[in-house]
Amino acid sequence: FETITVGDLAKRMGVKASEVIAQLMGLGVMATVNQALDVDTATLVAADFGYEVEQGMTEEIEIMQLQEQEEGGEEQPRPPVVTVMGHVDHGKTSILDAIRKTDVASGEAGGITQHIGAYHVQASSGGVTFVDTPGHAAFTEMRSRGAQVTDIVVLVVAADDGVMDQTREAIAHAKAAGVPIVVAVNKIDKDNADPERVKRELGEFGLIPEEWGGDTIYCETSAKRNIGIDELLENIQLQAEILELKADPSRKARGTVIEAQLHKGRGPVATVLVQEGTLRVGDYFVAGLYSGKVRSLTNDRGEQVREAGPAMPVEVQGLSGVPSAGDEFVVVKDEKMAKSVSASRQLKARETELASASKVSLDNLFEKI
Ligand code: GTP
Ligand code: MG
Repeated sequence: FETITVGDLAKRMGVKASEVIAQLMGLGVMATVNQALDVDTATLVAADFGYEVEQGMTEEIEIMQLQEQEEGGEEQPRPPVVTVMGHVDHGKTSILDAIRKTDVASGEAGGITQHIGAYHVQASSGGVTFVDTPGHAAFTEMRSRGAQVTDIVVLVVAADDGVMDQTREAIAHAKAAGVPIVVAVNKIDKDNADPERVKRELGEFGLIPEEWGGDTIYCETSAKRNIGIDELLENIQLQAEILELKADPSRKARGTVIEAQLHKGRGPVATVLVQEGTLRVGDYFVAGLYSGKVRSLTNDRGEQVREAGPAMPVEVQGLSGVPSAGDEFVVVKDEKMAKSVSASRQLKARETELASASKVSLDNLFEKI
């Protein structure tokens, strides 16, 4: 039967041979550039790079891209995606509420954010998409898996509490991701509020306020009294303008799973942040290990929509399983492609699982001896 060398496979996918070798190593296959791979192995590796391997009528191996390059599209300005981070109880959800003029925090169990919500806000000078994080674990998880969803971090620091553990963590995450920070010094309505102290403390992390000659934007807010919220939104938009964010809405959609769960009655549902292209009802897609066809799209206000463009968060129904936060969501050309990529990823996941399980049992064995 037909084989393909590591070097040839890499070339046809437009990646370095060393990257293919590294992926193979992850599958427990030690290979060199000239090594021949069988179709099954090639399929597994190719799926990681977004390619599918097919054996044509002539038995020749064909390498197909998960999403073919589309012609004629044009990049257009897109709304920024803003992640709100900060220490527990410093007012992240309250600030978002004030921005949305709704009241999610009071409806949350114990006032603690239970999930990542993503909301799109239409302001005077344009739209902004906000992601509310329950803690930083989800953000770290997404970033460690290569998913970069956020353009700007809004760092919320309570003026009566100052810089705390998770404030420092958030700064580290934003810096590692290379994302600009806009500071919201919140709870300035409190008697013991000391915004200057917050600036001094954050200054030690290089977040120097503009009035001290630095380039970090600080906004003093009270989510409770609705003070400074409009200024915060304006400053986010100013920061976004500098970034000149663009995306091509004419392409097939590509995005990231923000959250997903098994819903009683509705089956698996995933909140997807569209990053490129436009997602439409009826599209075939791959989301992590799973595939599907978009049965319905629901926006952040619970309305059914036919499509979602760049930077729009949308709830997708029609998945074959529940993907993980941070999984890539890619629209592909047809059902066959969606199913075969999902099948090969599941096979690979099982193999990886088996490999680590057998390693553990071997380790245990040695421990006993
Ligand atoms: P987690 O999601 O649990 O990390 O908290 P959070 O950062 O989202 O804080 P949340 O918005 O839930 O607010 C925590 C508490 O602080 C609530 O009791 C809010 O009412 C209160 N709070 C938020 N903003 C302000 C403010 O500007 N002033 C005052 N006085 N209280 C505020
Ligand atoms: Mg919250």
